[in-house]
Amino acid sequence: MGKQLIAQGAEAKIFLVDSTTIDKESINILRTDFQSNEQINPEKKTATKKESPLILNQTPYKKFILKSRISKSYRHPIIDKQIRIRRTRSEAKILNKALSLGINVPSVIKTEKFNLEIEYIKGDKLSEKLNYFSKQKQSTAMKMLGEQTAKLHDAEIIHGDLTTSNTIFKKNKLFIIDFGLGFFSPKIEDKAVDLHLIKQALEAKHYKNYKELFEQFLSGYAPKDKEKIIKKLETVEKRGRYKH
Ligand SMILES: Nc1ncnc2c1ncn2[C@@H]1O[C@H](COP(=O)(O)OP(=O)(O)O)[C@@H](O)[C@H]1O
Ligand SMILES: [Mg+2]
Repeated sequence: MGKQLIAQGAEAKIFLVDSTTIDKESINILRTDFQSNEQINPEKKTATKKESPLILNQTPYKKFILKSRISKSYRHPIIDKQIRIRRTRSEAKILNKALSLGINVPSVIKTEKFNLEIEYIKGDKLSEKLNYFSKQKQSTAMKMLGEQTAKLHDAEIIHGDLTTSNTIFKKNKLFIIDFGLGFFSPKIEDKAVDLHLIKQALEAKHYKNYKELFEQFLSGYAPKDKEKIIKKLETVEKRGRYKH
C-alpha cells in the first residue's frame, strides 16, 4: 500500500494511505507469482490477468487516513502504550457516536492498538482556504460549522480543539475532524470552551472579518441551552484575558 506522511503533530503521525498502489517490493513478489503462473498453466494466465493481481482494493475506501499515535520517551514505556491505546479507542468511540447521530465526521474503518484508520475527507481545510472563499461561501461554511458543533454539544460531545485546522469543507458539507482531545460532558462550561476555541482561531487566522465569521457560526449554532452557553462564554473569555 502506498503510504504518504501528510502531517505530524505532537501526538500522532498522519498518513494518507492509498490501498490501490503498493510498494516496489510487493510488486516484485506479485510479478514473480504472476510469471510463474504463466509458465505453469497458460489457461490460468488469462484468468489471473483478468483478476489483475496488481490492483488491491479490499476496503471500500481506496484512500484513507491512518492516524498513528507516537510514543513519548518521557513516559514509562508501559504507561506510554496504555495512553496511546486509550486515546486511540477514545477518538474512535467519539467518532462512532457522532456518526450514529448523522454528524459530519470521518467514518471509522478500523482501530488497532494505537493506529486509527478513518475516512479521508478530501476537501478544503478552513485554516488554509476560508480566507479565499467568497463572502457567500464563507458564510455558508461558518453557519454549517455552527450547526455541526450544536449537534455535537447536544450529544454531549466536546471537541476540545475546535479550530479551523480541524474543519474541512467538502462538496457543500462541513466536516469536523480530530477528536484527539475530545470527551463526553454535559457541562455548559465545556461547551463554552469549544466556542472560545473557535472564536480564538478565527481571530488568529482570519482576523480581517473574524467577528462576522463568528456571528455566522452562531447563526447556525442552536443547541439546547444556547443562551446559557453564550453567557458562559463571556466568563471563559474574561478568564482567558487574565491568563495573558
Ligand atoms: N480524515 C481526514 N481527512 C483528511 N485530512 C485529514 C483527516 N484527518 C487528518 N487529516 C489531516 O491531518 C492533519 C492532522 O490530523 P489531526 O487529526 O488534526 O491530528 P493532530 O492532532 O496532529 O492535529 C489535519 O489537520 C488534516 O490536514
Ligand atoms: Mg488537528
